[in-house]
Amino acid sequence: MYTQSFNVPDGSDEAKSAGLRAVAKPLTASEAALQAQFDTRIDADGKIEPRDWMPEAYRKTLVRQISQHAHSEIVGMLPEGNWISRAPSLKRKAILIAKVQDEGGHGLYLYSAAETLGTSRDQMLAALHSGKAKYSSIFNYPTLNWADVGVVGWLVDGAAIMNQIPLCRCSYGPYARAMIRVCKEESFHQRQGYEALLVMMKGTAEQQAMVQDAVNRWWWKCLAMFGPPDADSPNSVQGMRWGIKRISNDDLRQKFIDATVPQAKVLGVTLPDPELKWNEERQHHDHGAIDWDEFWSTVNGHGPCNKERLGTRVKAHNDGQWVRDAALAHARKQQQRNLKEAA
Ligand SMILES: [Fe+2]
Ligand SMILES: [Fe+2]
Repeated sequence: MYTQSFNVPDGSDEAKSAGLRAVAKPLTASEAALQAQFDTRIDADGKIEPRDWMPEAYRKTLVRQISQHAHSEIVGMLPEGNWISRAPSLKRKAILIAKVQDEGGHGLYLYSAAETLGTSRDQMLAALHSGKAKYSSIFNYPTLNWADVGVVGWLVDGAAIMNQIPLCRCSYGPYARAMIRVCKEESFHQRQGYEALLVMMKGTAEQQAMVQDAVNRWWWKCLAMFGPPDADSPNSVQGMRWGIKRISNDDLRQKFIDATVPQAKVLGVTLPDPELKWNEERQHHDHGAIDWDEFWSTVNGHGPCNKERLGTRVKAHNDGQWVRDAALAHARKQQQRNLKEAA
């Protein structure tokens, strides 16, 4: 999964000094030529590859965005992973294991894509584990019952797809290519969630009430996943100029709402927004106001599960230390053997 548009500053010095930007040093003649080449390629909708020259700010933005995305995939395994042992049937358990495993795979592709920009996996993980790096805030909410697992698939993965499909056309080659495979898997995630909910909605009144309750708790949080309104997202303009971001936060949010309303109707649930209605003139749905204070409070570490998620993640990393040590020792041994044979 998933994004909150990935333009949220990490808890870094850069964020603290926002507004106090250093004046960029003037480009040398050769840098100016490289910059012109870069701009031409971006304008022609071409791809930038790891060995190509790129402006430092483009590199930094991508490192932040791709690593936040990778962290989101990995932390995103936790709320659903909690339900693997409690899935209601063998079929549901097998599907959920496959989905959670996919998310782990997405994280690994994305860490690899970020590494091509000159950052190391260790650096990225250290930033996550220290709480400096952000990940999608949606994972700081609990999955309280089985219907939550279905709603996460339908709405959270559904929002992720909206965000991620345009990233398949991102100007940075390794990121764009990783996203093509990720998106194929995300559409399976969305459908399995929706199908699980369809089954529950054909069940007992209690099951139907569980689905409605889960939808009520997740709907607004999913709308916030698209990130702050365009007017409050100054980074988005630069991201669009660089061909990293293709569609604005508000436009993606609108697409998601327009696509989801008919799905909710088929399912037989009510989306918890009394202001949600079709606007004939705009040919889109209007919706109520999103609680951005809650969003920022969760982004800044005060959501219901922030501490638990990070604690679980750090423990899993520490518990896996012996595996990394063993793999490194094996690699060293093999290297020595090869050297001996070559001598
Ligand atoms: Fe997913
Ligand atoms: Fe994913």
